[in-house]
Amino acid sequence: MIYLDNAATSYPKPDRMFREMEAFVRASGANPGRSGHRRALEAEAMIDETRRLLARLFGCPRPERIIFAMNATDALNIAIKGVLRPGDHAITSVLEHNSISRPLNRLERDGAITLTRLPAGEDHLVDPEDVARSVTPATRLVALTQASNVTGTIQPVAEIGKIVRERGALLLVDAAQSAGVVPIDVERDKIDLLAFTGHKGLLGPTGTGGLVVGERAQIAPWREGGTGGDSSSPIQPTEFPHHLEGGTPNVFGIAGLREGVRIILERGVDSVLPHERNIIASFYGALKDPGRFHWYGADRVITQRRGEGRVGLVGINLDGFAPAELAAVLDEQFDIAVRAGLHCAPYAHKHLGTFPHGTVRLSVGLQNTPEEMKQAAAAFDEVAGS
Ligand SMILES: Cc1ncc(COP(=O)(O)O)c(C=O)c1O
Repeated sequence: MIYLDNAATSYPKPDRMFREMEAFVRASGANPGRSGHRRALEAEAMIDETRRLLARLFGCPRPERIIFAMNATDALNIAIKGVLRPGDHAITSVLEHNSISRPLNRLERDGAITLTRLPAGEDHLVDPEDVARSVTPATRLVALTQASNVTGTIQPVAEIGKIVRERGALLLVDAAQSAGVVPIDVERDKIDLLAFTGHKGLLGPTGTGGLVVGERAQIAPWREGGTGGDSSSPIQPTEFPHHLEGGTPNVFGIAGLREGVRIILERGVDSVLPHERNIIASFYGALKDPGRFHWYGADRVITQRRGEGRVGLVGINLDGFAPAELAAVLDEQFDIAVRAGLHCAPYAHKHLGTFPHGTVRLSVGLQNTPEEMKQAAAAFDEVAGS
């Protein structure tokens, strides 16, 4: 199989990740607890080490302010619903995944908040000036994805962070497609809340993810319960990470995530994006006639604006094939795994003009090779009758 659906989840996962996860779980997979027995303390120490590794990766000065969640969706919901209050205004964009759009849309529909959805330009980027123009005294949150899962473009987060900070609002960044791929520094880029998933670029298992919570963010917990420490308090403790981490954490998953993050730190996050771009370029370069396909974002594979680039994914369509049909042919006849449709981002496809059928998305990862991409290009050529 040629697996080109890494934007959904990275696959295959590194052997090291499985080995370390299994070794930890077999040796000491207890329920972490501060005043518990040795095995419980080992689990707690493993989780804390994972926080420290993530803190290094994200430039976060206080590891305890990284809280674990089920995935990016969970982390985004914790942030959005924990931060916004009745009467607030929020800003988002057309490039968002439903894990930002839906919670915000519901709050707006219920009359709790007002919402501004910014357009993207022809370069599939949100213009920081649009953010600046849209902030009002009631704006509490600006919620944007760092790298679109439809166009692949990396947003000018640092510029937006500066503007949002100057105006006293909070910046929530969805790093589902960028964590482990794009160098991130929450302090430098003035990111108040960073939601990440563990099972894509961080190479961990599904069911992992989390939220980096900056000092400026006042966030109310919605999941309240046991924290494994002092049980006498009648309400959820306010100290991090317990404030937002009620219940038994995903110890197995976090043990795997720890190894995934180690792998990224060892190889250096700076090296991931060049690899992905190289892989996409090998595909493009191997096609006999790229002009037979419609390209979404890939027409600007090389284009950069203000030093910002794109992650390793492209959208493609072929005349005569619905995206779902093309994906099915690639799967059934060529054993190539891609994702067709709207990719949980309907507004992004409206922006591209590909709503409601969407595109066929090829998304690459660390394990993809130029050789595989040549084979994939040959399959695309054959389907297109080149
Ligand atoms: C941009 C973006 N945000 C959020 C998510 C949600 O991630 P998860 O499925 O880990 O919750 C995805 C998943 O594809 C995504 O691409």
